[in-house]
Amino acid sequence: MATEPAIRPTPTLKRQRQAALYQRALQSMPGGTDSNFRAWGEDTIYVDRGKGGRVWDLDQNEYVDLRLGYGPVMLGHADERVDDYVNERMRRGVSFSLTSEDEVRACELIKEITGWVEMVRMTVSGTEATMHLMRIARGYTGRTKIIKFEGQYHGVHDYALISVLPNDMGELGDRENPVRLAWGRGIPEAVTQTVIPVPYNDLATLRAVFEAEGDDIAAVIIEPVLGNAQGILPKEGFHQGVRAITKEFGALLIFDEVKTGFRIARGGAAEYFGIKPDLASFAKAIGNGYPAAAFGGSREVMSMLPDKVSHGGTYAGNRIAAAAAVATLSILKDGSVVEGIKQRGLSIQAGLASILDAKGLPYNFTGVPAMFGIMFTDQDVREYRDWVNTDHDLYDAVAVGMHPRGAMPEPDSREPWFLCAAHDDADEAQVLEAFEGSLAAALDARTQGIAAPSLVLG
Ligand SMILES: Cc1ncc(COP(=O)(O)O)c(C=O)c1O
Repeated sequence: MATEPAIRPTPTLKRQRQAALYQRALQSMPGGTDSNFRAWGEDTIYVDRGKGGRVWDLDQNEYVDLRLGYGPVMLGHADERVDDYVNERMRRGVSFSLTSEDEVRACELIKEITGWVEMVRMTVSGTEATMHLMRIARGYTGRTKIIKFEGQYHGVHDYALISVLPNDMGELGDRENPVRLAWGRGIPEAVTQTVIPVPYNDLATLRAVFEAEGDDIAAVIIEPVLGNAQGILPKEGFHQGVRAITKEFGALLIFDEVKTGFRIARGGAAEYFGIKPDLASFAKAIGNGYPAAAFGGSREVMSMLPDKVSHGGTYAGNRIAAAAAVATLSILKDGSVVEGIKQRGLSIQAGLASILDAKGLPYNFTGVPAMFGIMFTDQDVREYRDWVNTDHDLYDAVAVGMHPRGAMPEPDSREPWFLCAAHDDADEAQVLEAFEGSLAAALDARTQGIAAPSLVLG
């Protein structure tokens, strides 16, 4: 009987076409790509296609996709139900700057599924949604400042890029008096001064900030689960506390549901945590990957539009986005997709747990099964600052090593794994095999003192 070789050869990725395209792209695009987050140096991936839970790069390496475009692909890539509807609609012409019935239906579906949203407007990106919500909150309250939480990402407008994801926690300052840390150059100091960062899960600091500056705080914007910091969860009672403090000081509560919306529960984080915010942003899940986004909230606050607060956009509610949202939300409406994704997540977590337990490694799953992170630590992780004490180098090495083994998580421990309805048993088995092989290789390399693989992240 044949026996397994003791040491399996390290698989490698084919890179010929992508390496050539990278060199070509560098001539026209900074970093060879359109987003700093995809600028992985020589390892930058150029995609060919996706179908269901899988994706193929230009060299035809095949991966189970655990990034899913940073979360939007709920149903699977190239879902024919959505694509056919979008195709039919787009053949009627795409750009009119006139409102289509699909826009109205998409907004109705957001209201119906969330149950608490009363009025909605569509945008193209999550960035636009959070930017407009901050403006509406300022317009409604007549106040200037916005509180956000460290480690939270709300998009790429200036007001969102404060205290997001530094590697060096020292840059964030004292936790009782955090620094307003702008991400990169080009963000005016005057803008930075209007955004107050607070550590997540810390109601005492939040209250102290309100007591000092409450008269000028328009809103608290919160990603209900720290989706961009391993999906760190709120402590028991944290959201209720934030809701109570905002009410006490007359500020609005904005849920940034760009990642959590229609994913962590049918009605998003508001339903999951039983909180009624004043406003919320939605994006990713609403269009199964098409560039659709929206913001909404109570009728009273949203009635700042159209007369008192500016919102527009040539492509706001464009035909493709609206059609994608109608088709996707109609499928998500009965909740079975979200439940199926959760079950797949639980099953993958169980498989990962048995691999990790066999190695005796301390770990935590952060987030929820539909969107979870793996932290190598035995500590309780409650805020972004805790990330630094986890073994994220080991995580990064494992994630990078999974790519040549046929599964693609984001090669940065701060980004959770995303699952979709199309992930099947074969995908799950491949993910677990890739994880096990990569973990073993990373631990071996560590024992031998070999530097762990990692990607140059933008
Ligand atoms: C919580 C959250 N808010 C806002 C955004 C920005 O969305 P977009 O990339 O569509 O501009 C993101 C993107 O990842 C996000 O995760």
